[in-house]
Amino acid sequence: DAPETLKPRPPVVTIMGHVDHGKTSLLDAIRKTNVTGGEAGGITQHIGAYHVKTKRGEIVFLDTPGHEAFTAMRARGAQVTDLVILVVAADDGVMEQTREAINHSRAAGVPIMVAVNKMDKPSADPDRVLRELAELGLQAEEWGGDTIVAKVAAKTRMGLDELLEMVALQSEIMELKANPDKFARGHIVEAKLDKGRGPVATVLIQEGTLRQGDNFVCGPFSGRVRALMSDQGKKVKDAGPSLPVEVQGFEGVPEAGEEFFVVSDEKLARRIADSRAIKQRERDLASESR
Ligand code: GTP
Ligand code: NA
Ligand code: MG
Repeated sequence: DAPETLKPRPPVVTIMGHVDHGKTSLLDAIRKTNVTGGEAGGITQHIGAYHVKTKRGEIVFLDTPGHEAFTAMRARGAQVTDLVILVVAADDGVMEQTREAINHSRAAGVPIMVAVNKMDKPSADPDRVLRELAELGLQAEEWGGDTIVAKVAAKTRMGLDELLEMVALQSEIMELKANPDKFARGHIVEAKLDKGRGPVATVLIQEGTLRQGDNFVCGPFSGRVRALMSDQGKKVKDAGPSLPVEVQGFEGVPEAGEEFFVVSDEKLARRIADSRAIKQRERDLASESR
């Protein structure tokens, strides 16, 4: 894209960390809603995507499950991300999935900011957390390093403004831009088969603008955008760079992490999808006969 076609876009921030360290609670507090209360067993089963307007500008957050079974998905999550907020509970410290999250982020080349959460707890020991992080090469600024650390409590909303301020500052430095005036391209954040609506998927748009009626390819499927819904559950006509949007019109349920792209017409979409489906079947047969 020519430089003059690029326009500023919001940062996409992925919240990572060990199970139950407060990722969803932190996002809830930022969004001032209550998602954890509605989750089965309080365990995040999917990646939620939320578009938040703060005093310092717009931010898109991706919430990731802390459960081990979702490690692969989390690894993919990092590819659509500009910044990772690593949540570490102040009473629990660095745990196995904290280390995994650091490794995923580093492998993807995504900068890491730290939120030391649950600071309201009497057993909170933030110095221990900073020490453990330093041992992993994440030296806090207050200890002379360059890792940005915010001390927060999702429960009491302590430190949230500072955290958002740090995200805004960091993303300003990154000068994030994309061309909104082309066919949309993005990745699947989550997908499901809805009883009434058929296959639906949340797509994180990375460049271009997705519109109702657009023909697209995603994995072995083609489709045509029947309806678009924002993360707030509102019908929208289009979605531009960095925005998460729920798309109806898939011919099948795509996998999380799959690339999504718009093409000029239905014929082309079908041709690409069909050849991908054939290749997929060939791969499946080859692995069966092995
Ligand atoms: P998974 O998605 O299952 O990995 O968990 P999570 O990291 O999203 O954690 P979640 O938000 O579900 O919070 C786990 C537990 O910690 C819940 O019982 C929360 O109420 C509690 N919790 C989260 N943040 C805080 C906090 O700042 N202070 C206190 N005291 N409790 C918190
Ligand atoms: Na949880
Ligand atoms: Mg969660």
